[in-house]
Amino acid sequence: MSREMYNEIDLAKINLNAEPPTEEPARQYYFMAKCREWVREFERKNGRLPCFFTQTFGCQMNARDSEKLTGILLQMGFAETEEETADFVLYNTCTVRENANQRVYGRLGYLNTLKKKNPHMMIALCGCMTQEPETVEKLKKSYRFVDVIFGTHNIFKLAELMWRRLTENRQVVEIWKDTEQIVEELPVERKFPFKSGVNIMFGCNNFCSYCIVPYVRGRERSRKPEDILDEIRRLVSEGVVEVMLLGQNVNSYGKNLDTPLTFAGLLRQVECIEGLRRVRFMTSHPKDLSDELIQVMKESGKICHHLHLPVQSGSSRILKAMNRRYTKEQYLELVDRIRAAVPDISLTTDIIVGFPGETEEDFQETMDVVRKVEFDSAFTFIYSKRTGTPAAAMEDQVEPEVVKDRFDRLLAQVQQISARVCARDLHTVREVLVEGPDDHMEGYVTGRLGNNTLVHFPGDPSLTGTILPVYLEESRGFYYMGSPLPVAGT
Ligand code: SAH
Ligand code: SF4
Ligand code: F3S
Repeated sequence: MSREMYNEIDLAKINLNAEPPTEEPARQYYFMAKCREWVREFERKNGRLPCFFTQTFGCQMNARDSEKLTGILLQMGFAETEEETADFVLYNTCTVRENANQRVYGRLGYLNTLKKKNPHMMIALCGCMTQEPETVEKLKKSYRFVDVIFGTHNIFKLAELMWRRLTENRQVVEIWKDTEQIVEELPVERKFPFKSGVNIMFGCNNFCSYCIVPYVRGRERSRKPEDILDEIRRLVSEGVVEVMLLGQNVNSYGKNLDTPLTFAGLLRQVECIEGLRRVRFMTSHPKDLSDELIQVMKESGKICHHLHLPVQSGSSRILKAMNRRYTKEQYLELVDRIRAAVPDISLTTDIIVGFPGETEEDFQETMDVVRKVEFDSAFTFIYSKRTGTPAAAMEDQVEPEVVKDRFDRLLAQVQQISARVCARDLHTVREVLVEGPDDHMEGYVTGRLGNNTLVHFPGDPSLTGTILPVYLEESRGFYYMGSPLPVAGT
């Protein structure tokens, strides 16, 4: 793990007898210092540091939030552990599909049994699930043992909320409906030393009719380009070579800034950062993907030739009902334009099966898009009814057996194509960013190509974080076995 430092703020210099500051992030550093006092007291009494465990249930944006939460906990002096028996357990939840919620409730039941054995234990829940009023009602009523409940808009307040729990001694619940606020400059603990996610925007304005995200993440807010560029420069100075720019719809970045800037314009500036080697981004909404972006990708030496372009369905009729605002033909035409400019691009997608009213003909249109585009991979999902979204109230919900049958056929098709397409670089030399020792083979390391495909090859773990030329010797469906080339000058 690696710490991103904003340590101009020294917790030891904060006057804890003063009233808490009203400005952010000073206020949160004040509460971090308060909690650190509590941590010291805990250590004195128990002869060890209190430890924490976090689990992320959702997407990359949730994972990035968890890195921020972890940064705050470490700043307070807690020790991190991989054990759920920790003194502080924090679940960062997802509610995009019903099974994500079920997993959380399942884990909570288990935590309750652990809490009965460990009197120090504190349990906190945050993220997208807690933005839903029904969830909070349920937690208040039947999950009283959950100590702190907060949402997606106030994760930066973790220290303050924990302090309230410690002093008020009862369940603390604070959920904001929405926010305009973007609090910068809090501690962050990165999972990887050599690559990092970077939020460029929060929220979503698209309201696809099946999707809960706009309701739980609020309206679209873009970070200022200076803040994004400063963060990336700092990351690079700490050894990061690859960044993933994150947003629910990066293609609409910058529209609400005081001085508007397009996503392609932002990429041009990111590209100029010296020492940065690779740039990725997700997710791109097809309706907003501009020719300017295609041009920037074509000219760039750093933007990876990989695009995650969720299609959701191949049927124009269903796409309309989904409120995606493009047709099958427009999607295919966009793919053609991208491929004409960047021929070796690897395309991945998300597909939903069983949206209300989907017929076999609609489903065949989806299969047709899959065959025409030949995605490197596709995340396939069974439609999940989300209360409060327009699609949940639609008639013609499709029978589960029918959906399951379509889902199986789709998955088989996706996998068959993907095994063939992923082998396209076989017997060529490509640059690989080494991510660490191979989990399964002694003496091997694992890395990724620019298009995100995994490569395993003989090497020493000290190569982690470097970019090397590797000969792709053998394709094994979704990954390659390779051999490293001697690097000139070594
Ligand atoms: N902002 C991204 C998607 C975020 S959610 C985009 O627009 O592409 C990730 C994926 O979850 C979506 O692309 C969609 O395929 C899937 N998803 C969202 N809501 C869903 C639902 N109600 N049921 C099933 N899958 C869903
Ligand atoms: Fe959901 Fe659509 Fe927004 Fe993606 S663009 S987060 S699918 S509403
Ligand atoms: Fe899930 Fe929230 Fe991401 S609902 S997919 S964690 S934005």
